[in-house]
Amino acid sequence: MHRRSLEAEFIGRTYDDFLLRPQLGVVPSRRDVSLRSSLSRRISLELPVVSANMDSVTGARMAQALALEGGIGFIHRAMPIATQVESVARVKRTYGYVVEQPLSLPRGTTVREAREFIAQHDITGILIEETRGRGILVGLLSNRDLPWLEGFEDQGVEEFMTPIERLVTGPPDITIEEAERRMFERRIEKLPLVDGERRIRGLITKRDIILTRRRPYSSKDGKGRLLVGAAIGARGDFLERAAELLRCGADVILIDIAHGHSQAMRGAVEAVRAKLGDVALVCGNVGTAEGAAFLRDLGADAIKVGIGPGRGCRTRLETGAGVPQLQAIREAWCAVGDAVPIIADGGVRDDKDIFLALICGASSVMLGSMLSGTDEAPGSLIEDPSSGEKRKIYRGMTSPQAVFDALYSDEAREDTLALDIPAEGQEIQVPYKGSVLAILHRIRGHLQSAVSYAGEETLTAARAKVLPDPLRYLIPLSPAARTESYER
Ligand code: XMP
Repeated sequence: MHRRSLEAEFIGRTYDDFLLRPQLGVVPSRRDVSLRSSLSRRISLELPVVSANMDSVTGARMAQALALEGGIGFIHRAMPIATQVESVARVKRTYGYVVEQPLSLPRGTTVREAREFIAQHDITGILIEETRGRGILVGLLSNRDLPWLEGFEDQGVEEFMTPIERLVTGPPDITIEEAERRMFERRIEKLPLVDGERRIRGLITKRDIILTRRRPYSSKDGKGRLLVGAAIGARGDFLERAAELLRCGADVILIDIAHGHSQAMRGAVEAVRAKLGDVALVCGNVGTAEGAAFLRDLGADAIKVGIGPGRGCRTRLETGAGVPQLQAIREAWCAVGDAVPIIADGGVRDDKDIFLALICGASSVMLGSMLSGTDEAPGSLIEDPSSGEKRKIYRGMTSPQAVFDALYSDEAREDTLALDIPAEGQEIQVPYKGSVLAILHRIRGHLQSAVSYAGEETLTAARAKVLPDPLRYLIPLSPAARTESYER
């Protein structure tokens, strides 16, 4: 079993304490550098970036963006089970070779109702079935038709849909190539899949086919649907929540509690395993070698590491407990090696922090504040009326505001949320940053450059080179060197 002692140079150290000693570069172009890495024992990512399960960071939109770019998002849990389930379902439904359970409305639905339904579910068209729930296809209403239908709001959709007789459809087991051929030949954007009795069995959309071609690095499951994770707690409704999340397609469950090296975590993991079997389970947070070994021994598929480095976090200030983040990552890796992948969670302020985390022991990095303030982060824009400056809220999940909102959204949950612990989080306003895609592209580019400075062609090779003896490759910084490096 992997077990080595922490190098003394990491004690009390974090990201700003080291620089990488540049190595002989071997890549012709950094664009060719592979960043493939493990999220968990069974899932790998082409971009080892994970969005934090916080209500100001990850809802369905953020999770979609992360998965499209090769990472993964964890949908937060500060909401009723049904709402979280809907967020997961939305991610699973939006892109995929085949939408397995496309949404439909029955004949007789009015144009107004269809319009509302399409907007509510953010879809581009709707299958029309014979009678509600029977799943027999009778037509397709595209939202491209909707602008033409103003003034017909009270009429039934069947008057305007493309009827089954004129619809191009395919069998449920159609190959993606054949589907693509039919759609191209007939210049159609949607191909409903039906069986011999016209029962709806799926839907293929042009958007998804094009996306698959353009983004081969997206994080997808075996059916071509985007990967998504979802958080649960360790008390209250957590078992029911986990079961529902898995049922609607969550690929990995995260048991996320402030102090993961605890009996509460042991109880939660045992209960989840007993009820749900061998599901993919990320556990956290811990910040020590003992904590990481504890989660490995409990059978975690990935270990989330970080006690108090987060930007919205006041744990260290309020309790004096915590571990400098690079030390925590290194300790965890020294305890468990690569047997259980480590997710470095919190405290990343610059892109270089991500690379340091990865070459010192983490396999992926969870980001909160760096992804906040973007279009894809939940929450509305706040505009300063005098300066015109735009901002969004970023807040720790145990901040008084987040706890209040969570309880307000789900009164049944007083026992499961953090009301019984004093606030260890805070709320801040961050500048509005536009789309998260620009941030993810920037991170990808910087990680690829960093691998090239490490003298390797892949992240895997850079990790394999540095991990056994990081101090051969890292330069500890004096205060003067830190000023020279980071003050601009
Ligand atoms: P960054 O630095 O990326 O950190 O914004 C994100 C991580 O911060 C943690 N987090 C909290 N920690 N009290 C804490 O002690 C909180 O209220 C809180 N909210 C979030 C969490 O691990 C997240 O991924």
